[in-house]
Amino acid sequence: MRNPAFDELAVYPFWRLAKLLEGVPKPEGIDEIALQIGEPKIPPPDFVAEIIAENAGKWGNYPPHPGTATYRTACANWLTRRYELPKGMIDGERNVLPCAGTKEALFHMGLLAVPRDRPTGNQKPYAVLVPNPVYQVYYGAAVFSGGEPYPIAAPASNNFMPDYAGLDPGILERTALVYLCNPSNPQGASGSMDYLVKLIDLARQHDFILVFDECYSEIYRGDPPIGGLQVCAKLGGDLSNVVVLHSLSKRSSAPGLRCGFVAGDPNLIDAYRTIRSYASVAVPLPLLAAGEALWNDEAHVDINRAHYADLFDIAESILGHIPGFSSPPGGFYLWLDVGDGEAAALQLWREAAVKCMPGGYMAQNDPFTGENPAARYLRVCLVHDKPTAQEALERIASVLET
Ligand SMILES: Cc1ncc(COP(=O)(O)O)c(C=O)c1O
Repeated sequence: MRNPAFDELAVYPFWRLAKLLEGVPKPEGIDEIALQIGEPKIPPPDFVAEIIAENAGKWGNYPPHPGTATYRTACANWLTRRYELPKGMIDGERNVLPCAGTKEALFHMGLLAVPRDRPTGNQKPYAVLVPNPVYQVYYGAAVFSGGEPYPIAAPASNNFMPDYAGLDPGILERTALVYLCNPSNPQGASGSMDYLVKLIDLARQHDFILVFDECYSEIYRGDPPIGGLQVCAKLGGDLSNVVVLHSLSKRSSAPGLRCGFVAGDPNLIDAYRTIRSYASVAVPLPLLAAGEALWNDEAHVDINRAHYADLFDIAESILGHIPGFSSPPGGFYLWLDVGDGEAAALQLWREAAVKCMPGGYMAQNDPFTGENPAARYLRVCLVHDKPTAQEALERIASVLET
């Protein structure tokens, strides 16, 4: 006996890729370059290790689930600075909770949002809307919370954003939870103010919980992406129905720290505090101290942002002439239309020892057309130092040119 929800899940993308490449030899004499995982390879600032060492005396303590007041205040202050929010709109005590990386918190949003019973007068379960392609954790949260996942295509024709507002009102009526990845993984697209205002209006009209996954918010070329709380501020400061998630994994190149936060609607934050007490690993105090210093520092973030911008310039110069290339405004992924992402991933491994993620592995079949909207694409993670990225991109070009 086990939970039948397992049968509703696709194989996790990284396992699926490992299976695809299993037994397929790479060329001899060249090293593998891993471009399939969005793990920043540039190190976090040195002060991270120093602060962890200074706080070593706290390894003996169980960390409290709400973290420390100073961590929560650092997060609230960062949000206020970054999004030019009115002073006091975000309060560390009422509106912020730390999380051990945002992956776990994103999953818990399903438990927070989806009721056990069915919507009134409806035979179908509550719906959870996720973008398609999707960060698989949203999909898993929908399935394990007993909701019905609805993957909504985010095509180039809609600026790579899901058209939630265009859905049948019958679906919106029974929607409990909506995820938006902004900027999006994998396409690096962000919602305009108009798009985001409509989405928050929709959440309040249909009373669903709207989760903004903003872990890529600090990696952009051009204007900074608009955040969910910024839109709330524009709408008068009401936070109802909205939570945003932020992480140090991408912004500060510290995925191993497992440190981020959830902020927004005080009622939802309160409920999330209960979930954390029952089901979450609290962030250890030495790591929280390092995290606090990272939220208080922008210099390393500016350096990281400039590094990624350089990588995209290099990518443009090497791959710009290849049909299907485009350079996204946000995030650190290339999202290449190669015609058949799976075939391209196989060929790149076999001929160039480069591992990339087939776009189709990051998407579900569309509930309306039955097709996988990302099957044509390949995701390439631009996370390395410049020489490695250049080498990888040259190898990709030599394969894709043929
Ligand atoms: C879209 C998206 N959201 C959330 C996460 C999770 O980040 P973390 O748990 O490291 O904060 C990732 C990691 O790759 C991601 O791509």
